[in-house]
Amino acid sequence: MNILVSGGAGYIGSHTVRALLKAGFTPIILDNFSRGHRESIPDGITTIEMDIASPEVVNILQRYNIKGVMHFAAHSQVGESMMNPSIYYENNVVGSYKLIESARKAGVNHFVFSSTAAVYGEPKEVPIKETSPLTPTNVYGRTKLIIEEMLSDYSSIYGSTYVALRYFNAAGADESGLIGEDHTPETHLIPLVLEAAMGKRPHITVFGTDYNTPDGTCIRDYIHVSDLAEAHVLAMNYLIKGGESRVFNLGSGNGFSVKEIIETAKTVTGIDIPVVYGERRAGDPSTLIASSEAIKDVLGWNPTHSELSQIIGDAWKWHEEHPNGFGNKKDIH
Ligand code: UFG
Repeated sequence: MNILVSGGAGYIGSHTVRALLKAGFTPIILDNFSRGHRESIPDGITTIEMDIASPEVVNILQRYNIKGVMHFAAHSQVGESMMNPSIYYENNVVGSYKLIESARKAGVNHFVFSSTAAVYGEPKEVPIKETSPLTPTNVYGRTKLIIEEMLSDYSSIYGSTYVALRYFNAAGADESGLIGEDHTPETHLIPLVLEAAMGKRPHITVFGTDYNTPDGTCIRDYIHVSDLAEAHVLAMNYLIKGGESRVFNLGSGNGFSVKEIIETAKTVTGIDIPVVYGERRAGDPSTLIASSEAIKDVLGWNPTHSELSQIIGDAWKWHEEHPNGFGNKKDIH
């Protein structure tokens, strides 16, 4: 069964392509390669270099007899979204609208959408449930919320069905060590800590030590990218079997502070990572922890890779074997 994976050459998309293959689906990748990596695509996978907004997407969906769309293609940096909102509205909102509309025209009725915990903004309750207030505090989160609303409108008006997955902090890498996180610029904590361990950066800066948390640093819910990928496959199966449209959080339900991440990374790598304590980063909520009970109940999702030491261990394997990401592998002489 053919599934179109927009952004299939990106971090979470490329891991989901592998999960789809394992589950017996045929992923067809749609990526404009503005931020994705060709090297992340397994051999033999049909890959179409095209923007999600292209009117040609209708033909692609029909030509490949696509049963469902997994939509990852998006800009995803909070800081960038606050400096350059137009590319977020253009690429995320307008691009997604065009893709959703192409799917409608082609008669493709199932969508699994890559959403984010950023739709909640500053949380009013922890753990955060899907019913918690939706008050995004940045443009990135708002664009994802608008797309969720678009999918909801299309679902009620046209009868298509979707699952929106609100990820908390995606981290880790495929346990093969062949693919992993490679963003330019990198802004996420775990890859930055590991780059400091490798000596690619002089140190890791902790953004703020005066939060209202036990050790004063921000707490996040880190979820292994392979567990995220698995959730997408479960969601697509659920929709294909006739499941109704749903929104689910995806997190491990465990919170770790920035200091705890650094300490675990020191243990996993055996390296005394240099740390500098700095100011708060604007817009960071102190604590984000997911309630993921709904997806466990409805889809039977069971995260099996999300022990913190495994998340960091798998990320470390990727970083060690690919010190320059996809651009330059250690084994190329
Ligand atoms: N942090 C540091 N130093 C760094 C980088 C990050 O101390 O050099 C801290 C941040 O302040 C934060 C934590 O590490 O407390 C995690 O930061 P990340 O940038 O890795 O992740 P965020 O929690 O900011 O963002 C994640 C996703 C976003 C999503 C957001 C939802 O990456 O896509 O969660 O709130 F929008």
